[in-house]
Order: sequence, then C-alpha cells, then structure tokens
Amino acid sequence: MSFLKHIKPSVQHLEAYSVKSKPLSPDLIKLNQNENPFDLPNELKRELLDEFYAQPWNRYPDVFPTQLIEALSHYVGVPQESIIAANGSNELMYTALMAIVGSGTKVLIPSPTFFLYEKIVRVLEGSLISVSANEDLSFNVDSIIASAKKEHPSLIILNSPNSPTGQMMSVGDVERIFTETDAIVLVDEAYIEFAEMPSVFPLLQRYDRLIILRTFSKAFSLAGLRIGYLLAQPALCSELLKPKIPFTVNNFSTAVAIKLMQQQQLINERIAYIKKQKMFLYENLGQIDTIKVFPSQTNFLIFTVKNGATALFENLLSENVLIRDVSSYPMLNNTLRVNAGTETENKAFLTALKKYL
Ligand SMILES: Cc1ncc(COP(=O)(O)O)c(C=O)c1O
Repeated sequence: MSFLKHIKPSVQHLEAYSVKSKPLSPDLIKLNQNENPFDLPNELKRELLDEFYAQPWNRYPDVFPTQLIEALSHYVGVPQESIIAANGSNELMYTALMAIVGSGTKVLIPSPTFFLYEKIVRVLEGSLISVSANEDLSFNVDSIIASAKKEHPSLIILNSPNSPTGQMMSVGDVERIFTETDAIVLVDEAYIEFAEMPSVFPLLQRYDRLIILRTFSKAFSLAGLRIGYLLAQPALCSELLKPKIPFTVNNFSTAVAIKLMQQQQLINERIAYIKKQKMFLYENLGQIDTIKVFPSQTNFLIFTVKNGATALFENLLSENVLIRDVSSYPMLNNTLRVNAGTETENKAFLTALKKYL
C-alpha cells in the first residue's frame, strides 16, 4: 500500500510552488518577482551585520518579536495588540486562514489574483467561491457583493492593489462589502506603497472584521529577510495569534526591519523612483501596437500580446531578461508581467522585447 493513502486528497491534487527562473547572476535582468531593484546601502548592511555578530545566536528570539512590534506600532500608528509580525506576509496568510477556514468554510476570492489564497483554502478543505473580474480586469464589486449575499462566506480575500492585474479597489467599495456582508475581510496590501489610491487603513478602527496584511518584501527591499505583518483590532488579533507558529521572526530580520523604518527618506526616494520607472515602462509598452498594457497601482505591469506570450517569455529569458509568464491565470491569456527595475534594466527589457517583436 502506498503512503499516498495517508496524504490528504486535497493536498495530492495540488502542485508545489515553482517559479520559472534562472540562477541569480550579475548579467541577469530580473523583473519577475516584483522585488525592489535596490539592495540596502553597503554601510547599513555592514553596521547591521556587526551588531548582529555581537548577539548570542544560540538563544531563541522572542516567541513573537516584541521589539519589532513596538517599532511597527509607532510606525503604523496602532496599538501593539493590533499587530502580528511574521516571517513574510505569506506566513500570515496561512495563520489567518488556519484560524478561519475548516472543512467546507466558504471563502470568496476575486479572480484572477495571487495564487496562494486559493491554495491555502484547498489545503484546509474550505469551499472556494471565485468571482471573476470585469473585462478590463477591474474588481467586479457588484458581483462580489451579490455572490457574498447569496453564499454567506466566512472570509473574503481582497488583494488590493492586486497581483497580477495591478487593479485596486477603492476604500468606498471595500466599505460597501463591510456594510452589505458579515464576512471577515482580509485585504492584502503588499503593494500599497506604490498605489495612488488610499489604503483601507482608516477602516481598521471601524470594523472588527478587517484584517490588513503588509510586507517588507517590496517597498522596503527586504524580500530576502522575510518580514511581514498583519493589522486587525486586538480581539481579532488574539484569535489569529492562536494558530501562529512561534519564533518565526529571527533576530537579524527584526533588527534590519527596525532600522529600515528609521530610513523613511531612503524608502520614499526608492518608491518615487520605482513609480517613475513603472510609468516609463507603461508609456513605452503602450507605444507598441501589438501590445495592450494595463494600468497598475503597483510596482509591476501586465501586458497582453496578440499571440505566443510563452514563446516571447522564453525568448526574453534566452536574452537573460527574466519576466513572468502569467498566461495560465484565468482571463490572462497571452499575458506577461514585468516589474519596474532600474532604468538600465527596464531599457534592456524594452530593447530585448522590441528585437523579438
Ligand atoms: C499579493 C502578494 N502578497 C504578498 C506577497 C509577499 O509576501 P511576503 O511578505 O511573504 O514576501 C506577494 C509577493 O509576491 C504578493 O504578490
């Protein structure tokens, strides 16, 4: 008898996460994971490493990272009891869904969106309600509300601004969802620092059913050190903390994240640069007649080609330009995603693209 009989069928049906990639190298133009193109300044890295060298490595960190939560509390402007910090916001998606989703729990997720939400719902054997976007890929808010009123989901997950579409839901529309449903609403704001539209943050005081996820992986250049945090009212936070894996935030990442929150000017300059570069890409892609590029509230863009998106992706990769093929997502036939890199990287991408076309 195979061991497989002991693996949950819901898991057997899944695929392990993989990204079509190439090993990092100095000549790879890497625009595929919506990362920040800028590393931390060398002096800052050196200073943080020296401090970390002097710390004991044999001791556990705090169960939940007290100093980081203290710093986040000042930075974000909420009480410490309203914050959970973790090893990346992906971990917090698991934490929140472990607290909310069991067998048959209904979870409403707009589509297309970040793959991980659906995957966790499936692992936990929840029941997925998928609501398609409008044709222009904007959120279909009426349809989300109508579906929620009919199905009464326990949880609605909004990625706003959304990956991979770049679309954002207005605060007014999120508020409509609160007033017309009784679901917990989780808003993943991984890309909020790049958005022109405002965050749902002001709703936090008014709704005890709101969860906001944020990350240091994008605007804060810290994808490699894995820091994310969750905001919710204290009563909901204390429930979400119960299934949380302890000790997941290591001391080094904590120290770096705290330091970065004191470098607001540097972070702001980088955000402004990235937004400018995204517009540069948007305008240039928009001038190519065989390409349709979509507006985006994030640090990346999606664009549709007439045909052969995967062949184009492969060709760019052979030229050492790595972007993301999102053409297997619902509604995104022949669509590719590229994040804003440095000016040099963006120009190299456009040159390789034009050469192929
Ligand atoms: C929608 C969304 N949420 C969250 C994340 C980041 O997760 P983490 O904080 O675990 O790096 C990403 C990264 O690609 C994302 O696209």
